[in-house]
Amino acid sequence: MLLTDIGQLIVVPPGPLCGAQMRAPARIDGAALQVRDGRIQWFGPAQQAPEDPERVSAGGGTVVPGLVDPHTHIPFAGERSGEFERRLAGESYLAIMQAGGGIRVTTQAVRDASEDELVAVNLPRLQRMLTYGVTTCECKSGYGLTAEDELKQLRAIRTLKTRQPIELVATYLGAHALPAEYEGRPDDFIEMISDPALLRQIADEDLAAFCDVFCDAGAFDVDQSRRVLQRGLEAGLRPKLHADELKQIGATVLAGEVGAISADHLECIDEAGIAALRGAGSVAVVLPGTSFFLGIEHCDTRRLIEAGLPVALSTDFNPGSSHIENLQWIMAIACCQLRLTPTEVLVACTANAAAAIGRADRVGAISVGHQADLLVLDTESLAEWLYTPGRNRVRTVIKSGKVVHSAA
Ligand code: NIG
Ligand code: FE
Repeated sequence: MLLTDIGQLIVVPPGPLCGAQMRAPARIDGAALQVRDGRIQWFGPAQQAPEDPERVSAGGGTVVPGLVDPHTHIPFAGERSGEFERRLAGESYLAIMQAGGGIRVTTQAVRDASEDELVAVNLPRLQRMLTYGVTTCECKSGYGLTAEDELKQLRAIRTLKTRQPIELVATYLGAHALPAEYEGRPDDFIEMISDPALLRQIADEDLAAFCDVFCDAGAFDVDQSRRVLQRGLEAGLRPKLHADELKQIGATVLAGEVGAISADHLECIDEAGIAALRGAGSVAVVLPGTSFFLGIEHCDTRRLIEAGLPVALSTDFNPGSSHIENLQWIMAIACCQLRLTPTEVLVACTANAAAAIGRADRVGAISVGHQADLLVLDTESLAEWLYTPGRNRVRTVIKSGKVVHSAA
């Protein structure tokens, strides 16, 4: 298949792209791109395009890699709009969590749901995300908080992989919150949730590739988090970390110490954390939807880019701290409030997001041999796309060379 009439092709190279490299991607005006066997076979100026019997017109639109959302809390059940109202009236996220609300409320809803129900309520979410241009997405457990309910969430993810076109990458987040029945006994909970036999089962059944922990005030401390991540590593699950979101407790330094593939949130990151990520080659995943939704300070993302880190962006889609499923909305916040350039934002949502979930060799780039995951936008440039927050400019979504969504 030859994609022709591309007004502007944004040539994002494979990630991770560090610091100033995030501004480097080239553009080709008047481009074409050839796909063979689901992969990019050739791209360049249209006049030089190879012959191909099957031609598809991009109608003069901009073409970019399919978006990658590297941090979501799909699958979840229930909703927390009451808590949203309480926060708007002045209560903090942490105070609500410490009073037994927050994650525990969603845990109850997830425990009450069957695996089939989890699939049924989360399938439409993924179907909508596809229309916003997401072609690869990370999904976490973390609302079951018993071995059985965590496995149920991971199995729901496995089923969701087969029900819709977005490629899903699973993460085990058993240490997400202390469930009520373990109140006052966090170390017992940590033992249960990081039982080596459970972690081995998760790895052996290929139910997750990564192990994540919520390492923060009100959640788990550095020692507890280290224990879980090290056991995960021993079972073959690569570490990730929810770090420096609510308070600075040394979480990002831990991420570096265990060689995490990414450290996520980072609103309160310090110099030691930046140095630790640089040393470990971890991706800094910034979640501005969370700071927007919670009304807290954004992560100083410019500082991370200037420090030479590869920065990715993500929705953190979940029912409590970021009830935002549209990655384009995150891109808009990143431009308007984090003051990232459109090119930096695109790289953060493609090449670097792919690197944050260990898929940079295959997705998130316009590169020969990469999977042909592409978006055709109805705009003449990248800047025009991000200049229209709230309006879906994705006209066509292509996954592995096949059109999987077209706007009406
Ligand atoms: O990434 N920070 C921890 N976990 C989620 C919130 C989950 C929830 O509130 O349900 C987050 O923000
Ligand atoms: Fe999260």
